[in-house]
Amino acid sequence: MGRNLLLNMADHGFAVAGLDLDQEKVSALENESFVRHQVKGSTDVKVFLGLLKKPRAILLLVPAGNPVDLVIKDMLPFLEEGDILIDGGNTFFADTDRRIADLAKKEIHFFGMGISGGEKGARYGPSMMPGGNRVAYERLRPVFESIAAKVDNEPCVAYMGNGSAGHYVKMVHNGIEYGIMQLISEVYDIMKRGLNLSDEKIQETFEHWNQSELQSYLIEITTKLLSKQDVETGQILIDLISDKARAKGTGKWTSQNAMDLQVPVPVIDAAVNMRDLSAYKSARAMAARLFPPFVYDNETKDIESIIDRLKNALHFAIITTYAQGMDLLQVASNTYNYKINLERVAKIWRGGCIIRSASLELFRKAYGNNPHLQNLLFHEGIGRTLQNIQKDLRWFIKLSVDKGIPVASFMAALSYFDAYRSAKLPTNLIQAQRDYFGAHKYERIDREGIFHTQWD
Ligand code: 6PG
Repeated sequence: MGRNLLLNMADHGFAVAGLDLDQEKVSALENESFVRHQVKGSTDVKVFLGLLKKPRAILLLVPAGNPVDLVIKDMLPFLEEGDILIDGGNTFFADTDRRIADLAKKEIHFFGMGISGGEKGARYGPSMMPGGNRVAYERLRPVFESIAAKVDNEPCVAYMGNGSAGHYVKMVHNGIEYGIMQLISEVYDIMKRGLNLSDEKIQETFEHWNQSELQSYLIEITTKLLSKQDVETGQILIDLISDKARAKGTGKWTSQNAMDLQVPVPVIDAAVNMRDLSAYKSARAMAARLFPPFVYDNETKDIESIIDRLKNALHFAIITTYAQGMDLLQVASNTYNYKINLERVAKIWRGGCIIRSASLELFRKAYGNNPHLQNLLFHEGIGRTLQNIQKDLRWFIKLSVDKGIPVASFMAALSYFDAYRSAKLPTNLIQAQRDYFGAHKYERIDREGIFHTQWD
């Protein structure tokens, strides 16, 4: 990604230098740039830093965690006041806050910047989420705005806020990414295992959906993944891929931090849980023998109308996933004093990143019209859509339950919606239970105060 970002910058007329410990990579970078770009490289930190105009701007693309600290340690003796260090990895936001504070003592600006879009995005236009010192950001702005993806001529990069706001926004981006990927895989499961649709039909369905309000990068790549044949066996490659999902941790961090901030993000939690459950491969194989598939024969034969209902169910669940992520960003912004502007977040997620989708323009407008919108569900148009299509999600879940196909993230989406629209929840009983066994006290709806009852 680092190499591709450099080439992207060079394409836009900026002179750049790259550092890599591997001489082959440095040579490859310089050779690729031989005719067209002003790109230099080095394997030596001091030589590399000597190539840069002062005050320097240095973008780190190394694995999150200790490697970031090691690179900073290597560079620190040669850095000077006013230099800017940008961490473009998927770093945990609290580490970014620590590094900002440490480096500020030496008058060095440390930036946390989420970058989305993978290697291709880095080369031809990523979405970037920088946070940190606002004045220092203004120096970086021309470079970032030139290399970012563009939607309606607007760059998919903007200042996200103070401190670690950039890495926080990227963490939530990834949480939403986890949720949507899980939803897509569950609807795929229903079509394949539940309805026995052919691979071609499933592929065509996603392709069709990608021309609808579901248009998005993740649906688009799903259509490509589903038609790819394995060169050696001629089979559909996806059928040969192990179902143990791996994860680097950003989804888990989103869930963990959301719990710390007491913000419910159940679709994201379900997505993290299902990845963890996917790793129980041998236990699942054993349980599959113990509990064979449930036979369900009460099925409508009109497959096209079923597919329309699946589409609406997916659309509904994806909206609630974004709603949960946005809610988390709002609360985190208040808690950590990030000053995140949700319209701006939606705007820069419209292009370049993994969760880009047609819906983001709608969300951008929703926050543009009302920056105090408490939850996307309260936006009139979005609310109306959810109201109209909720029946299809309910139907979809019933079908999945009857067929024994796990749809944890869809269930989470619906329960979130149902709980959110319940003026009264059964948590009064939980309050009573806590008071019964722990004398934890409760509040009443008919009068002010804190109460305790001798229940026995
Ligand atoms: C992006 C991706 C990128 C990476 C994920 C994968 O926005 O370009 O999110 O950052 O592919 O970190 O995350 P997991 O390994 O946790 O699935």
